[in-house]
Amino acid sequence: MKDILDQLARRREIARQGGGEARVAAQHAKGKLTARERIELLLDEDSFEEYDTFVAHRCTEFGMQAQRPAGDGVVTGWGTVNGRLVYVFSQDFTVMGGSVSETHGAKICKIMDMALQNGAPIIGVNDSGGARIQEGVDSLAAYGEIFHRNITASGVVPQISLIMGPCAGGAVYSPAMTDFIFMVKDTSYMFVTGPDVVRTVTNEVVTAEELGGASTHTRRSSVADCAFENDVEALAEVRRLIDFLPRSNREKPPVRPFFDDVSRIEPSLDTLVPDNPNMPYDMRELILKIADEGDFFEIQAEFARNILTGFIRLEGSAVGVVANQPMVLAGCLDIDASRKAARFVRFCDAFDIPILTLVDVPGFMPGTVQEYGGIIKHGAKLLFAYGEATVPKVTVITRKAYGGAYVVMSSKHLRGDVNYAWPTSEVAVMGAKGAVEILHRAELNDAERIAAHTRDYEERFANPFVAAERGFIDEVIMPHATRKRVTRAFAALRDKKLSTPWKKHDNIPL
Ligand code: HXC
Repeated sequence: MKDILDQLARRREIARQGGGEARVAAQHAKGKLTARERIELLLDEDSFEEYDTFVAHRCTEFGMQAQRPAGDGVVTGWGTVNGRLVYVFSQDFTVMGGSVSETHGAKICKIMDMALQNGAPIIGVNDSGGARIQEGVDSLAAYGEIFHRNITASGVVPQISLIMGPCAGGAVYSPAMTDFIFMVKDTSYMFVTGPDVVRTVTNEVVTAEELGGASTHTRRSSVADCAFENDVEALAEVRRLIDFLPRSNREKPPVRPFFDDVSRIEPSLDTLVPDNPNMPYDMRELILKIADEGDFFEIQAEFARNILTGFIRLEGSAVGVVANQPMVLAGCLDIDASRKAARFVRFCDAFDIPILTLVDVPGFMPGTVQEYGGIIKHGAKLLFAYGEATVPKVTVITRKAYGGAYVVMSSKHLRGDVNYAWPTSEVAVMGAKGAVEILHRAELNDAERIAAHTRDYEERFANPFVAAERGFIDEVIMPHATRKRVTRAFAALRDKKLSTPWKKHDNIPL
């Protein structure tokens, strides 16, 4: 018996060595952790239960039968993050470059199936040279099986991708279909075709980092949601994100202990909005002052900075926040901001996370770049996302809420549940200057009369009371009491039920 136990221990030990000392050293030399080290940091101590440690490939081409490493280049199983179940796969670059074979893919599919069945998030650590070249079409089929599970799991369990090495070719499409992508600066990249192919086809000379590094994808393409300095930071932040999310669409997000006063008054908010309507202020300050303990997990912080998205907690419960940021492009809605916020709103709605919307929006961004880029379709995405969302929706207008953008930003008309406005709000078709220039075009040369018309318009329309008189605003609130009002509103909405007519699925303007 002892021999058998020793044999198991020995086989496990060999499997845990991955591609061997030299390749592990090479991995470390690049500033990357190994697949198992990553799992250790991601999960609670001693919580990892590994499956398929001894799975080996079945390929016989190119002399592959001579090298059949246990585990086949991916470590899979489940564990806990702060006590809550998650399923994880972590590709081992030290074993055949973490390349995806038929069996490697089957291991990933197995834990994806379990995550779906048992209702728990899937966290994938990607560090792979892509399809295992020796396996040809079997490898492509393995990717196809993974892709299909990504689609099935979408909106059922949260899916999070960590990109911690190469991720190229069709392999990028699995992370692309997950809910959040975290990248590591300088050691990870994602692209459909690498720099060599790009040079051949388009004559562009570009490095891997420029083409598909963390900065590119968090600032320009918006493919990735967050970029981190190293593996350790990225893994710690995934743990933080998981704490905001429900295990599946069958459960509520977790309620964490909180140590903040629900009725906390913030006198500084009474002067947050400057007297001059054209002066910016930092909307992030309002988010931090509303949130429990000032904790805000921002998503896509570097992209479309004219809109803020992320998670906070109120009374310990997760809330998704979407907020116009007057510091950037005056908080205008443009193509990027609309896409960013729409995707975030849909994630929250899919996973029953209530949405807080903070509004200071002068309108949609004008110009040929926006029109040619399809702002009509992209803006409609955000409109559609808010309109279809059935989770509790609380809105606070702090200043401008003009035109179509007023309607889009979780207005009463899109079934906003509780719509508050600060006394500094201006709910109108447009700002005074624009309105007067249209209504009194004939008098544009008479500065005095134009000034009088502007004052008149401001007095009549640049306030929240016209909308409040119609019930489009439920209450005009004191800025200093915003945390209390918003928290109480969400508490009242905790058991909200809202159904929509049956349909196979909607046809959101993609
Ligand atoms: C088999 C692979 C492999 C692959 C790497 N290796 N990629 N083995 N299939 N796709 C092996 C190498 O042979 C090597 O083995 C080890 O992994 C490490 O690779 P190196 O090249 O030494 O590492 P590095 O210099 O860091 O370069 C990493 C790399 C490069 C840039 C990823 O290996 C590379 O270009 N690989 C091929 C990438 C590729 O074209 N993949 C197919 C993409 S198409 P030893 O034994 O020496 O350690 C695709 C389609 C998916 O993926 C479609 C889905 C529908």
